[in-house]
Parts: sequence; structure tokens; C-alpha cells
Amino acid sequence: MEHLSIKGGRRLTGSINVEGAKNAALPACVATLLTDEPVILHRIPQLRDVSTILATITSLGKRVTREGDRVEITHGGALKAEAEARYVKQMRASFLVLGPLLARLGHAVVPLPGGCTIGPRPIDLHLQGLKRLGATIEERVDSVAVSAEQLRGARIDLPYPSVGATEQLVMAATLAKGETWIENPAKEPEVADLIDLLRKMGAQIEVAPTAIRVVGTESIHGAEHTVIPDRLEAGTYLLAAAITGGEVEVRGVVPKHLRPLLAVLKEAGMMCFEGNDTIVLANTERPHPVQVSTAPHPGFPTDLQPPLVAMLSLARGKSVIEEMVFERRFGYTPSLKRMGAHIVLTDRTATITGVSTLWGAEVDAPDIRAGAALVLAGLAAQGFTRISQLEQIDRGYAKIEVKLSLLGAQIERER
Ligand code: UD1
Repeated sequence: MEHLSIKGGRRLTGSINVEGAKNAALPACVATLLTDEPVILHRIPQLRDVSTILATITSLGKRVTREGDRVEITHGGALKAEAEARYVKQMRASFLVLGPLLARLGHAVVPLPGGCTIGPRPIDLHLQGLKRLGATIEERVDSVAVSAEQLRGARIDLPYPSVGATEQLVMAATLAKGETWIENPAKEPEVADLIDLLRKMGAQIEVAPTAIRVVGTESIHGAEHTVIPDRLEAGTYLLAAAITGGEVEVRGVVPKHLRPLLAVLKEAGMMCFEGNDTIVLANTERPHPVQVSTAPHPGFPTDLQPPLVAMLSLARGKSVIEEMVFERRFGYTPSLKRMGAHIVLTDRTATITGVSTLWGAEVDAPDIRAGAALVLAGLAAQGFTRISQLEQIDRGYAKIEVKLSLLGAQIERER
């Protein structure tokens, strides 16, 4: 089994390029199910989750050609209505194939999703929305079967702005008859990027401040699209600079996507400089404590909560972090505590009293962002940290050890 071995204590300095956004690339690949024409996607990151989604759509009848970060997805044979459990169980985003398959074929069967172990991740909003569009839904023990001769536009009020449900419903509505209004949709940049791609594919979609309007069409066609840069990867490297007292430039980013993080970093005493497509973070002292609640965009992103907590474990004082999106996203804190962090959990809140030193330890990466948090802690800790279950980190971070080494970290992937 592979693991990461880190010798902590090095200040990170230098520049790195950011990859395309995993959470934009995954729905973009799924959207290609809406047409038989070729779709060419650029800046697709080389990640395990991307390989999983490409295998999923290949198993459903697509042909995929991948050269570096360019992926061409064409018609490979008749579209299949049934997704295989071995893909959907690995990653929750595979569940997004349900809406497009239903819209194209009039029926679909998709296994219940798997993914990170960060709390219950129900699919009720996906299913209620599809029902509003006229689908009949049969919930089986291990899968969901949906059918509808013709989806019909409807008004869907989302009680919570779920990213996945918004993406699922926008995709399904592009081929429905008539007009769909999705009220209270997710506003994450990755949702906007999917809508950009769908528009290039001929979908008629308008985004209002509190709703998305989709006018169904029969002519979804091929397109070429470059996905947005990964704000979560960029944010993780900025936090890596912060925790090591370093100075790092992330290149190829959309700075406004990172404003919720930058606001917190500034409050924590970091110097942050925004360029057109770059951000520089410089830090010379221990962070100040902060109080942060995670929230849907433009709130503080839940995915950056674990690496933020890692940074705050070395702050000069007491921070309070409230996790309002995924209730079990503090599963990595026992490992941080083994490294010397002082964290008290109550329900959805972590109270972190900063310590002056973290110590290397042997820890597991329970999910993608938790893995990133432990890497950051290892970079700042005294001595060696060994992180196993690397496959979780590889789901979301391309060549993490190579990028961190470029910034001066002592980190190696070992067998
Ligand atoms: C996506 C991101 C993930 C990010 C999350 C929130 C991808 C591939 N993943 O996940 O990295 O952390 O957005 O920004 O894009 N919920 C329901 N019912 C539903 C759907 C969701 O109750 O039908 C709840 C979930 O349990 C969770 C909250 O809504 O508590 C947020 O989930 P959602 O926004 O759907 O996240 P994902 O799309 O799974």
C-alpha cells in the first residue's frame, strides 16, 4: 500500500499551477450523456475521481479519448439505462447520470451512491426534483429506478441549495418539455461552469439571483469547453503556505472564487495579494484565531474546513469552527489530536486551542479533504508523518507530493 512520508518543518515558497476543478470536471463529463455528438473538454485534471466518471460513462455507451488534460467524449454505441454499482459506489458524483439517462431514454436505474465518509449524503432532493419533472420513482434496496415517457418542465423549490441536486435537475430539465424554474439553487462556481457548458451544448438556461430557468429543447449538441480552475486545490495550497509560515503563489486561478477563504486568511493575519489569475499568500507568524461557519457558496466552503482547522491548530488562541454543510466532517480531528492539536468537538462545532508545536505521527486519510488537512499538519509538524489510505487524497489532488516538493516540502510517496 502506498503512503506519503513527510518530514515537517520546511517553509513552503514558490509558485504552482492549479489544475482544472474536479467538481466541475465530473458533472461536465456526465453532461455529455445528453447528446450523441462529440464534446471536447479541456483542463480535465488527472485524478482518480475523473477516471471513475470516465469509466462510468464508458460503461454507459460513451467513447472516451484522453490526451493529457484534453478529453474527447463521443458516441460509442447505444446508450445504456443501467449504471454499474462498482462505479457509483466509489463516488457520489456518479449518481448524476440518473437525470441525463432518464431525459434521454425515458428510464434509468442507478445504484445508491458512495463517496466520502463525511456524514449522511441523502438523495431526496434529487428524487423529489425529478418527480416534479414528471418522473416515477421506485426506490429499491440498493438502487433507484426512474421512468418518464416525457419529462415536463415544472417549478422546483429546493429546501436546501444542494450542489448535486441542482446539477442533476438542470441537466434533466434541458431535455424536458417546457419551462423549469429551480428555486434556491446552489450557486457554487462549479454549478455555473456546468451551466456554461450546457449553454454551449444548446441548452437554454438563465440564471437569476435566486432561481435558474431552463427552457427545454430537443437539440442538445456537441461543444468544446474548458473547465474552471480548482478553487479547492488552490485553497489547500494557500493554507499549506499559511501553516508553514511560507510564501506561495497559486497560478491559473479565478481569485473571486477564493474570496470566502481569502477573507478568513486575512482575518487570521495572512497577507494575500490577488492578481488577474494569481493569488500570493505570505505569512511570517502564527495565525490569529478565527470564528468560521461553513455554508453554501458564497459562504466558507466545507471542503476547505479540514485544512483550515489544521492551520488553526497552530494559531495563537482559540478558534471556533462550525460545520453547517456535512455533519460528520470532523472525522480527521482524532488524527490531528494525535499530532498534538488541541480540539474539542461538540455536535457541529470544533473548538481549537492553538498549540505552538505539532508532532509527526502515523495517520490515515479518511476522505479527500481530511487527507489534505493531515498533509498540511505533517508539513508543519516536527519529525516524520506517515499518511496511509492515499487513494482518498488521489481522488482529489493531482501529484500532491510533486507539487509540494516543488514548493520545498520534504515529502515522498512510498510503497
Ligand atoms: C458537492 C461537492 C462536494 C462539496 C459539496 C458542498 C462534487 C462532486 N462534490 O457535493 O465536494 O463538499 O458539494 O459544497 O461537486 N443533501 C440532502 N439531500 C440531497 C442532497 C444533499 O439532504 O438530496 C444534503 C447533504 O446531505 C449535505 C448538503 O445537502 O448535508 C450538501 O450536499 P450537496 O450540496 O448536495 O453536496 P454534493 O453535491 O454531494
